[in-house]
Amino acid sequence: MPHYPPEPFRIKMVEPIRLIDRAAREAALKEAGYNVFTIKAEDIFIDMLTDSGTGAMSHHQWAAIMQGDESYAGARSFVRLEAAVEDIFGFKHFMPTHQGRAAENILSAVLVKPGQYVPSNMHFDTTDANIRARGGRPINLVIDEAFDPADPHPFKGNMDIAKLKAFIEETGVENIPFGMITVTNNAGGGQPISMANLRAVSETYHEYGIPFFIDAARYAENCYFIKMREPGYGNKSPLEIAREMFSLADGMTMSAKKDAIVNIGGLLCMNDDVIFQKTRNELILREGFPTYGGLAGRDLDAMAVGLREGLDEAYLAYRLGQTAYLSERIKEAGLGIIEPPGGHAVYIDAGRLLPHIPHAEFPGMALAVELYREGGIRGVEIGSVMFMHEDPDSGEMVYPELELVRLAIPRRVYTQSHLDYVADTLAKIVQRADQIRGYKFTYAPKLLKHFTARFEPL
Ligand code: F0G
Repeated sequence: MPHYPPEPFRIKMVEPIRLIDRAAREAALKEAGYNVFTIKAEDIFIDMLTDSGTGAMSHHQWAAIMQGDESYAGARSFVRLEAAVEDIFGFKHFMPTHQGRAAENILSAVLVKPGQYVPSNMHFDTTDANIRARGGRPINLVIDEAFDPADPHPFKGNMDIAKLKAFIEETGVENIPFGMITVTNNAGGGQPISMANLRAVSETYHEYGIPFFIDAARYAENCYFIKMREPGYGNKSPLEIAREMFSLADGMTMSAKKDAIVNIGGLLCMNDDVIFQKTRNELILREGFPTYGGLAGRDLDAMAVGLREGLDEAYLAYRLGQTAYLSERIKEAGLGIIEPPGGHAVYIDAGRLLPHIPHAEFPGMALAVELYREGGIRGVEIGSVMFMHEDPDSGEMVYPELELVRLAIPRRVYTQSHLDYVADTLAKIVQRADQIRGYKFTYAPKLLKHFTARFEPL
């Protein structure tokens, strides 16, 4: 039996969940146009759609909520958040935003001009879309190992430095307003980036005078991977590792809904005074006054506490241990996953399970539908539905290399028996995999299709 770490907390409030019967699940699927995003949450038994904003806050966070200062400007809540942000990230300027994509939007609005390129290891979908929405082109330069699900590379989120240099030389510095890296690499399996790679990325961007922004959504999990896997970091605390990480960058965007364990919130940080002034004006236009940025004062307080809890070693050991446990159980069920297990989720190789379904018929979507049909479980497709797009030059449809289903684990929410149920359900699906069919769109918007698209079985 794989090891399951005892939770470093106990439960003092519960939220009932229920499994509706098979006929009701079938009806829910049909009504949702086979898009699990559209199914009502009350009809879901185990919800692994995302680890974003779905975590359980601690009693310290709930207590902090009661101290929220709702002053329009200069609230005490802002001052408390500022102290935590300065302590951990150390950038000269910061502003709260209502979530990560708001920070991405503001940064893209201020820095990206049509036709410009923004490199990263892999952009997540909202970052990708925010750059495209400004006429820019997001570029993914992750190491090749990231595309081989079986490769056990310990830092599969690393950027390919040779590719990055070649890309900058080819594209020209004037066409690259800023560079990014996503820690951990969500779109590529929640895989970590090593400190050595972060340093090399930083040096490369800076050699060319390109500002370097980190997408820090899951930075704490990344720090714990560095502690466990990178020589020289075993005796450092996650906080010390975080400080070193952010000292390499010029700024960051962050969805606080992940590693800051809050239900809503984000951050935009930077050192540059001029970019700060411009982004602050954009923030005021779209989000709110700079000391609340689209959030209530109480949200800022919950984030200030959550940022510190997210770096707690016992919590991070449990967190990554839980993901590793579910990964082992899913492999026992006969499925391929992205190896080694990432931080926040298990990524099932749906392409390998359903080789008879081509990219254009969405194998990942098909597996996501079966998970709901068989067990009332909701995961998310990270494959063609999410990432297919028209090449702006050739007009041809481009499909991603991997067709995945992500089972994200909400923080401090599910227990071992929930995870066992998920693995057992998958084992049943594996038995009848060859009978599973693909899907076609009946509706699809141009950007961020996966949220609202509707489908029909083939
Ligand atoms: N960056 C990364 C790496 C993310 O995973 C997300 C969100 C964002 C940015 C955007 O943040 O949702 O607060 O606006 N990821 C969620 C997920 C939605 O399910 O992985 P947001």
